Amino acid sequence: MKIGIYYFSGTGNTRFIAQEIQLGLSDGGSVCELIPIETITKRERTLEPEKYDLVGIGFPVHAFDAPRIVYDFLEMLPIAHIRCFLFKTAGDKFLNGGSTRRVRMLLAHHNWKLEHESFFVMPSNIASKAKTDKIESLVEAAKIHAAETVCEILSETKRILPDSSAQRMFSLMHHVENRGCKQGSRYWRTNDKCVLCGSCVAECPTKNISIAKGKIVFGDSCILCLRCWWNCPTRAIYHQQLNFVLLKQPYVLPKAKIPPKTDGSMGVKVE
Ligand SMILES: Cc1cc2nc3c(=O)[nH]c(=O)nc-3n(C[C@H](O)[C@H](O)[C@H](O)COP(=O)(O)O)c2cc1C
Repeated sequence: MKIGIYYFSGTGNTRFIAQEIQLGLSDGGSVCELIPIETITKRERTLEPEKYDLVGIGFPVHAFDAPRIVYDFLEMLPIAHIRCFLFKTAGDKFLNGGSTRRVRMLLAHHNWKLEHESFFVMPSNIASKAKTDKIESLVEAAKIHAAETVCEILSETKRILPDSSAQRMFSLMHHVENRGCKQGSRYWRTNDKCVLCGSCVAECPTKNISIAKGKIVFGDSCILCLRCWWNCPTRAIYHQQLNFVLLKQPYVLPKAKIPPKTDGSMGVKVE
């Protein structure tokens, strides 16, 4: 089987799971390609889901729902009969990270056939940092769950996560979050540790960061994925209002095992 996995990951948790799933699918004899969603939404790459037998979509839970960039991506899907699976990561198991109803509805609207859904609890990238041993145990549990997920996908076991009214109610928080992201976007700042290396500019999935007049400038399209803050090599980025919910330091996940490079074919490609 040829499998394409489109994923979004602000701080690496969802990418880690995407890589674990890729590894399992490759071990199971499939060729599996990972495609960051922002390469599609930034139009750096053409969206070609029809070339796969099966498509995966992965994202982090933001405010009990999916980040806005995932919806921008879903709006771009072609109307076609495409078999797909979903996976999401969250920092807590509460209500399975909220509802995926809106995501499912958009998939159905594009005629995509959802066959499997999975949910991974990973260390939270916001609010409070888990201790190192807790991070390790969450990651170990997630690896096992990724292996189970792969078995179910390959054996075509249908699994759709429960979607209760409580989950849907909590997911309404995404409206508040989306508004907050927009309003809070311009309150990102850099301090004098900034060396203008430009990594935040290059990495921002919504092109929200630029350099003007020798300074880093933040626009109004932040989705609060935290990628710039997480990866800043000099720890120069801060938020004027939200610093109290940011972790003191980003944590480092163990590296996912990546299938060895062979001939550069789809089975081993990671971007
Ligand atoms: C803006 C924002 C909102 C979040 N909302 C939730 C949430 O509602 N529930 C939850 O369990 N975790 C929440 N988290 C934690 C992330 O879902 C979790 O750490 C995820 O694994 C991060 O994935 P990533 O590293 O791929 O971006 C949130 C994180 C951010 C940055």
